[in-house]
Amino acid sequence: VKPLKIAVVPGDGIGIEVMPYGVRCLETVSKVFKIPIQFESFDFASCVFYQKHGDMLPPDWKETLMRFDAVYFGAVGMPDLVPDDITLWGSLLKFRREFDQYINLRPCRLMPGVPCPLAGRKAGDIDFWIVRENTEGEYSSIGGKIFEGTDRETVVQETIMTRTGVDRVLRYAFDLARSRPRKRLTSATKSNGISITMPYWDSRVNEMAKKYPDVNVDKYHIDILTAHFVQRPDIFDVVVGSNLFGDILSDLGPACTGTIGIAPSANINPDGQFPSLFEPVHGSAPDIAGKGIANPIGMIWAGQMMLHHFGYTEAADALLRAIENVLARSEVSIVTPDMGGQGSTKTLGEAVEREVMALSTER
Ligand code: NAD
Ligand code: IPM
Ligand code: MN
Repeated sequence: VKPLKIAVVPGDGIGIEVMPYGVRCLETVSKVFKIPIQFESFDFASCVFYQKHGDMLPPDWKETLMRFDAVYFGAVGMPDLVPDDITLWGSLLKFRREFDQYINLRPCRLMPGVPCPLAGRKAGDIDFWIVRENTEGEYSSIGGKIFEGTDRETVVQETIMTRTGVDRVLRYAFDLARSRPRKRLTSATKSNGISITMPYWDSRVNEMAKKYPDVNVDKYHIDILTAHFVQRPDIFDVVVGSNLFGDILSDLGPACTGTIGIAPSANINPDGQFPSLFEPVHGSAPDIAGKGIANPIGMIWAGQMMLHHFGYTEAADALLRAIENVLARSEVSIVTPDMGGQGSTKTLGEAVEREVMALSTER
């Protein structure tokens, strides 16, 4: 069998701190399940690289990454050193667009043992997927600035929605909804205020819904949808939204289930023409970087999504079970401060790795 080739791109801040535990857990689970897997690390897509080379990426980055099946990505951003728009448009957003990773899939699940900030919710009550459009929408490079430095200074940034772009993310979300017991799809728009693009999205949802008569479709404006995320998160099954709305909902969702530190994300090119990218939802967290207390679960769970993506379901299930078991025990000395513990990246990362090994001896 051809080995799975993974490009490891840790990035900045806590990306560098959580990545080793992601790789170790993947190595351990692949050993147990005899999955041939190879890692190669790269120092580009980081602000340190930018300061050395004046660019976030080397000129041949695309050919380099194309040699891999997937990119395993930490997080980038050191806003005190490099402006965030330069950092992100020069790396992550470039990967998503150039590799046509048009699906951003993000689970939102209340896990056993994780303290929930919402009253009266227990593990299992919240369990849905966010499907975020990942290559167009509000994240557009069309726009500009005129009359700079004068009172007439004007900035414009267009939202782009193409029929192909909207339909393909909706199709993915409808398929996902169809595969789940509740078969419910929630679409996030803002069609009362944003009067051209958002009603367009709605009309494509209506059109797509005709092909999925078995899927129950709900549409909400984004403002009240955020309220429902807090007050009635149990009603959701698959939530689909534009690039920006999906971004916002996928921090809110994980925050409602305890901490964004555990949330993973899969940036998928479903056609397989380009590598997909797996990363935690969170960023480089400059406020805690260097302290060794970042939660590594988002990174590890992203690796789990990668195994699942490549069809290694048994290994993926085992890794998810290992994460769940460690979280369920929630030992104060093991779990990180964002979960109310006194542990570290190391204690939590190693606990998951140990749990993978323990599960393997049960096998
Ligand atoms: P952030 O996700 O980095 O941090 C937000 C808050 O959550 C901080 O208080 C942080 O300490 C906490 N946090 C995040 N991850 C954590 C973890 N694993 N364990 C414990 N606590 C965690 O978001 P931000 O502060 O808006 O952004 C910081 C930098 O990261 C910026 O440069 C931003 O552009 C960048 N960013 C990058 C990515 C990415 O590379 N995918 C994603 C989001 C933000
Ligand atoms: C995310 C991040 C990125 C986004 C930023 C860092 C550009 O917040 O992956 O959610 O907005 O997509
Ligand atoms: Mn985000």
